[in-house]
Amino acid sequence: MYTRDRALQLMEEWTASESLRKHALAVEACTRGYGEREADRLGLAGDEREAFVLPYSVAGLLHDFDYDRHPSLEEHPYVGNRVLTEQGWPEAVRHAILAHAGYTGTPRESHLDRALFACDELSGFLTACALVKPSRSILDVDAAGVRKKMKDKAFARAVSREDMVEGAALLDLPLEEHITNCVRSLQEAAPRLGLEGTAAQG
Ligand SMILES: [Fe+2]
Repeated sequence: MYTRDRALQLMEEWTASESLRKHALAVEACTRGYGEREADRLGLAGDEREAFVLPYSVAGLLHDFDYDRHPSLEEHPYVGNRVLTEQGWPEAVRHAILAHAGYTGTPRESHLDRALFACDELSGFLTACALVKPSRSILDVDAAGVRKKMKDKAFARAVSREDMVEGAALLDLPLEEHITNCVRSLQEAAPRLGLEGTAAQG
């Protein structure tokens, strides 16, 4: 049986960097949010819904789990994929993890593949947007402000705007809606992401 707890444990075991751990949790929150939306669209409930959403969580948590130890293009995410195969993690999760890195040549086919890719860069950008707020809180981030920051080339310059736009297109969503969905997912997960900010301020 694979579980979210096992995925979290594996990610933490391999990831010393606090910011990379936070990144894994943020991508999990956003990707899972899309799993939940898709489950609702399909009318799933109860155990069936849980089982449907679990791979979204797990793929988010594990997509970069080998990156701290093996960051090179030759090794990430291949080393991780090998470990996940040995440990018997589901094929759908491994496929999404390979597909999130464009240079592997793995096509983004399933909804999970597309959701993971779409949430990876965007969640990093949204986190950066939160941390420049006086409150340092994701609760103060909205889509209009994010769009503005996207145009500011000097801001979070390592985050690919192209990937953010492509992610929304892959999910068949206007960029605005994709941003709003992910902001909401991060807001719900704010306490474990350390993005609640300083509530007493202002
Ligand atoms: Fe990532």
